[in-house]
Amino acid sequence: MTTTLTPVLSAHWDDQDSWTLAGYRRRAGYEALARALRMEPDQVIQTVKDAGLRGRGGAGFPTGMKWSFIPQGPGPDGVTKPHYLVVNADESEPGTCKDIPLMLATPHTLIEGVIIAAYAIRAAHAFIYVRGEVVPVLRRLQAAVAEAYAAGYLGSDILGSGYDLELVVHAGAGAYICGEETALLDSLEGRRGQPRLRPPFPAVAGLYACPTVVNNVESIASVPAIIRNGIGWFRSMGSAKSPGFTLYSLSGHVARPGQYEAPLGITLRELLELAGGVRRGHEVKFWTPGGSSTPLFTAEHLDVPLDYEGVSAAGSMLGTKALQIFDDTTCVVRAVLRWTEFYAHESCGKCTPCREGTYWLVQLLRRLEAGHGTEADLDKLLDISDTINGKSFCALGDGAASPIFSSLEHFRAEYLDHLRLGDCPFDPARSTAWA
Ligand code: NAI
Ligand code: SF4
Repeated sequence: MTTTLTPVLSAHWDDQDSWTLAGYRRRAGYEALARALRMEPDQVIQTVKDAGLRGRGGAGFPTGMKWSFIPQGPGPDGVTKPHYLVVNADESEPGTCKDIPLMLATPHTLIEGVIIAAYAIRAAHAFIYVRGEVVPVLRRLQAAVAEAYAAGYLGSDILGSGYDLELVVHAGAGAYICGEETALLDSLEGRRGQPRLRPPFPAVAGLYACPTVVNNVESIASVPAIIRNGIGWFRSMGSAKSPGFTLYSLSGHVARPGQYEAPLGITLRELLELAGGVRRGHEVKFWTPGGSSTPLFTAEHLDVPLDYEGVSAAGSMLGTKALQIFDDTTCVVRAVLRWTEFYAHESCGKCTPCREGTYWLVQLLRRLEAGHGTEADLDKLLDISDTINGKSFCALGDGAASPIFSSLEHFRAEYLDHLRLGDCPFDPARSTAWA
């Protein structure tokens, strides 16, 4: 097997001074910015478009195309509105843990990407919306932003180019829904974070109803390397439709969990080989290709190419590339129950299918996991999930339904085993706490 990692974003995470400006400069830091500022903004957009970078937050929307949606010049009312760049650093999808180490280890990679992206879309203000609970990340970002201001990379007349940019790091208050881009914008504006109706997409009416690009941390942090190394370099990795490298987060029953940066299209079998396999004496039972909101895969899917096309052809989504691995000691019903409890807790309550549906899913799953349900409960699970899926206001509802559908598709027999036994077959000693 010739599988190799392609560390770009993670190449210097272990350096002693990886997060300082001095350390970043030693590694050619801010050279891409100097190059970008010599280009026209539209040339920068075209470069990112031609490189084929796709959004790393989960949906895989082409980044350069999103930037090009920002309207230039006055609108139909003759008014030219300001443009904003907002970085979604509210990483919260269960199993997803790539943006937080990236910001902790190399915050200047993100800041350099922010300045380049803001220049490209002609924004004078940018925001990084970070999960408030992760205080070390907040502090590190704030310190790095202060260093960047002091060095003339932020503020007025950046590197003598005439371009001005103000960058604010904003701490969210810990709601999963604020990772949804429009809820994030409401929260940033000081309101309760709840999703807005789309369209209009933020590119047309975003922060303060002005054209806004919302991008994930990893997407923005990938931009300096593309500007520095070129389109051909980026496209030499991955596939034609999913080019480049990315961070895969491996967690769960893996010998060496962590971040593995590899070309898009690598398989879980190859990644497991690099990560030391599943724990000794056990086998993969099920796994998530992109966090808990994506349909579950099983051992049959170990050779699915982990790119946008490969995963969706196999019936799931690449999502956040959070590969949570569960071995044969795991009760799938309990795992799905835990995820569903999370969605019920995080549902913002705006729409009925999600608010009520996730509550009832939890009640049914608790009963089933304890072996006290009936076979008709499985149909009820599907019925409620059908009412949520595609009928909720935002993607959280679909995400909540997804593990129910896929677990029943692949592991219906395990649900029935609970009913036959009258308890959880994986942990009978845990007893009937539910009863
Ligand atoms: P989406 O596919 O609706 O949109 C993706 C992006 O493309 C958005 O920025 C949207 O504004 C833009 N876009 C789409 N169509 C557009 C158009 N016609 N014009 C202008 N812009 C357009 O996906 P969504 O709902 O924003 O995100 C869902 C994804 O988020 C899921 O796939 C999930 O994996 C991921 N997710 C990530 C989390 C994390 O912690 N990173 C947490 C929860 C979900
Ligand atoms: Fe809120 Fe859930 Fe509706 Fe999304 S789907 S708007 S999280 S209630």
